[in-house]
Amino acid sequence: MEQIKKGVTIVSSGSATATQVLDNHDLSKIVDTSDDWIKTRTGIIKRHICANNSLSDLASQAAQKAISNAGLTPADIDLIILATSTPDDLFGSASQIQGSIGATKAVAFDLTAACSGFVFALITASQFIRNGVYENIVVIGADCLSRWVDWSDRTTCVLFGDGAGAVVCQASEVGDNLLGFEMCSNGKLNSALNLAYKGEVKNIGHNKQITQGGFGKITMNGREVYRFAVSKVPEVIEKALFKGDLTTDKIDWLILHQANQRIIEAVAERLNIPSWKVISNLSEYGNTSAASIPIALDEAVSQGKIRHGNTIAISGFGAGLTWGAAVFKWGSFE
Ligand code: UT7
Repeated sequence: MEQIKKGVTIVSSGSATATQVLDNHDLSKIVDTSDDWIKTRTGIIKRHICANNSLSDLASQAAQKAISNAGLTPADIDLIILATSTPDDLFGSASQIQGSIGATKAVAFDLTAACSGFVFALITASQFIRNGVYENIVVIGADCLSRWVDWSDRTTCVLFGDGAGAVVCQASEVGDNLLGFEMCSNGKLNSALNLAYKGEVKNIGHNKQITQGGFGKITMNGREVYRFAVSKVPEVIEKALFKGDLTTDKIDWLILHQANQRIIEAVAERLNIPSWKVISNLSEYGNTSAASIPIALDEAVSQGKIRHGNTIAISGFGAGLTWGAAVFKWGSFE
């Protein structure tokens, strides 16, 4: 049976970040840290933090830019997938975006896979294209982790920023530009990075009980996540390349989840990818979770670094623990 009916192309990008900037010097007045420690250990200099923007605002802006850069209108979109761990509404924020941008015929849903969310959402979108169901899909990665950071915990509050990035994926009759992908989970390591629900058991009468409360704050065993990333990310990229019958020398650009400059450099070194092929913007934005890869991608496209036909390897990793990679050629076949 014919399994792949249409090919996947990733044709445009867009991004949006909050205007309020918090730099390392600002942070050193809030917690016991220093610009030198943060820069040396992470590569981060500033981050953009939401005050008045909602997650849906940023995500809608990113989606609108990506749609317009594709030469489409919101009414052309069949599906919107929002990768986020920080929705404005626990029932999901994708529909709010669909409504606000006027994507009248699109179905929209959220997908949660923390910092791997954008990679997982792109791969999910591709299945809907390959099986012939949808033609035009917007994939958004957006997070406002500042909402859930413990601003008295210097081990985490220096790392995260807020933002949104998006791409448009289109069906093609000519070929398939998604060359390979791989996704992984290991729930045994779940406790290494959490934003857990914290409820209290309450009596509601008639001898019945429920649990109610809110979410706690982000907790992370940084060293454990660091070790996991440096060992698993090169492996998952190699698996995605293998599926596409490719080798690392065919990669034009490497875009990793922007968590730590030392992780980015260690992964590139293990894969023998020269530093000029590695895209990094975490000095400006910090770790924006599901948004980090599409923001970095969009910047590199806008700067004219990424060009039509370039081969790009992306890899996300984080809570779950989850990790994944996708290798694709940029642009359509036209
Ligand atoms: O997006 C999800 C994926 N997340 C990640 O990939 C994060 C992965 N982990 C990391 O990036 C790094 O582990 C961190 C940046 C979180 C931490 O860097 P590290 O080099 O692993 O530092 P560490 O945790 O080993 O801490 C070293 C020292 C400790 O002090 P002692 O015990 O040596 O006295 C910490 O208390 O640095 C101290 N420290 C700080 N000092 C100043 C921790 N945070 C800070 C801080 N400022 N903000």
